[in-house]
This record gives sequence, structure tokens and C-alpha cells, in this order.
Amino acid sequence: MKIIPGPASKQLGEKIAALLDAEAIPLVFKNYPDGESYVRLEGNVKNEETVIVQTTSPPQDARLLQLAFIADAAKRQGAKKITAVVPYLAYARQDKVFLQGEAVSIETIAKMLKAAGIDSLITVNVHQAKVLDKFPFPAKTVSAISPLAEHFKQRGFSGAFALAPDSGALWLVEEAKNVLGGECGYLEKHRDRYTGQVTTEKKSLNVKGTIVIIFDDIISTGGTIVLAAKIMRELGASNVYAACVHPLLIGDAEKKIMEAGVKEIVGTDSVPSHVSKVSIAPLIADALTKKGA
Ligand code: R5P
Repeated sequence: MKIIPGPASKQLGEKIAALLDAEAIPLVFKNYPDGESYVRLEGNVKNEETVIVQTTSPPQDARLLQLAFIADAAKRQGAKKITAVVPYLAYARQDKVFLQGEAVSIETIAKMLKAAGIDSLITVNVHQAKVLDKFPFPAKTVSAISPLAEHFKQRGFSGAFALAPDSGALWLVEEAKNVLGGECGYLEKHRDRYTGQVTTEKKSLNVKGTIVIIFDDIISTGGTIVLAAKIMRELGASNVYAACVHPLLIGDAEKKIMEAGVKEIVGTDSVPSHVSKVSIAPLIADALTKKGA
């Protein structure tokens, strides 16, 4: 097996290669002055099972195209089977027509990746797993919630309350609870489909004097975490932490979250950032070596 660390996930790809004792194929990558991407493989993947590691956090369109170009280059060299490891899968949230006239963006992305030569895909905590049924090749998602919860456990947070900021994240906190051993619960969040405005209902949860860790798949603008953190502070939580798989942290998200009383944000290297304190490399290495990957 050969691993190609894409430009968006160079370190993660190299870590995965080291864990699997596989060769990491170097890549020449550059942007032309007009912004177009250029890639060239500096190694041989002929007749090899080839894994491309490339997250598609912003700038997501460019990173998706880079992934497609790398797959095309590998295919042309004669790669046997191409697996894309895309820890953060862009456009996964647009998985149906919410308002008349919209595109199902993720379906278009899936078809594009297939056309580029990708044979299978592994992602991490995709927003809704059922979206992967739309892919024209085998696609699976693995969960980084246990490693995130384990990180907190190692730091002495056993028994902390695991909070889902919306009902969609309930299964995430059930997973976290198994590691942390405390209680878990969720809030009800509503999003206005036209304005994007999010509101969260206050609800009585027994968190007084307790450490609360809010778990979510994505932190984008930070709005979801801010609302949840404020409610936890009002309910008397002793400290509030935020854990997420994909720390996109757009604009001043981090500042807003800290101002809402969150002590620390912990993310994974699905999206490299200064809060990426947990590596998903072991999780991916394991998924790649499991049968059917
Ligand atoms: C959506 O339901 C997701 O699970 C996240 O809660 C959401 O994407 C976070 O976005 P933001 O940080 O902009 O509130």
C-alpha cells in the first residue's frame, strides 16, 4: 500500500504512512499565479493499492479539485485501487433538497470523485452517515469521538457531563459517555433555512457544579457552541469545554466561543489547526487495514 499525503493533509498522511509502515509518495504541489492547482506525483504507484489523504476544509472547492487531480495522476500511473481518505468531507451537509431549486451538492461531488478514478472513500464523522449511500463506490465513516473523549479522560475529566448541542449530536455524546463514564444530554437547536440563524432552547439539565464537555462534529462559525455554552453557564456548570472532530473555526469563531465562557476547544487533525490536539491517524490506519476498506 502506498500513501499519498495531499497538500491539505500532509502531516496526517505522513503519520498514517508511518503507522502502516507504508511508503509516503511525495507530491509536487503549487498554485499558478491565476490560482489554478498543479500536482505531480514524485513516486510510482503502478499496480499498488493507493491511498490519498486529503481533507476538504476551506478552501474546499480547491481542495476537492486537488484530490481529483491526484486521483487522476495515480490512475494514469496504473494504481490498482484508489482509496480517498477525506477526513472532513465538504458539502456533506447539503445532502438533500431543503428548499426548492437547490442542488444535492454531495451527490455531484461523489460523481466527480468517481470520474477522477477514486474507488472507495473513508471519511470521519460525516454529518449524516446515510449521505454515503449516495456514493457510486463504497464509502464509510469512522468516529473520532472516542479518541476525543479519551483525550479528556487522560487529563482527569472522567465523570464529566457530555453535552450534544443539538439532537443530531446525541449519538456522539452517547459514545463519549462510554469513555468518560458520566452523564450525557442534548439541547434542541433550530436553524432558519433562509437566514441561517440558529436558536437553541433552554432546557433543564442537571449540570450544576459539573464539568461539561460539548461534543459536536463541526465547529464552523461557533454559533452552535456559543449558544450551548451560555445555557450551560446559566445552569451552573463549573467549567465548559468544547470538543469537535472538524475545527473549521471560521472567522472569529474561537474568540466568540471563549467569550461565551468556554475554557478550551479541543479538535482533531482532520482539519489542521492550533486546537488539533488529538490525531485521527491511528483511527484511519485501523480503518485502512480492516477488511473491505
Ligand atoms: C450542524 O448541525 C453541525 O452538527 C454543527 O453543529 C454545525 O455545523 C456547527 O456550525 P456553527 O459552528 O456555525 O454553529
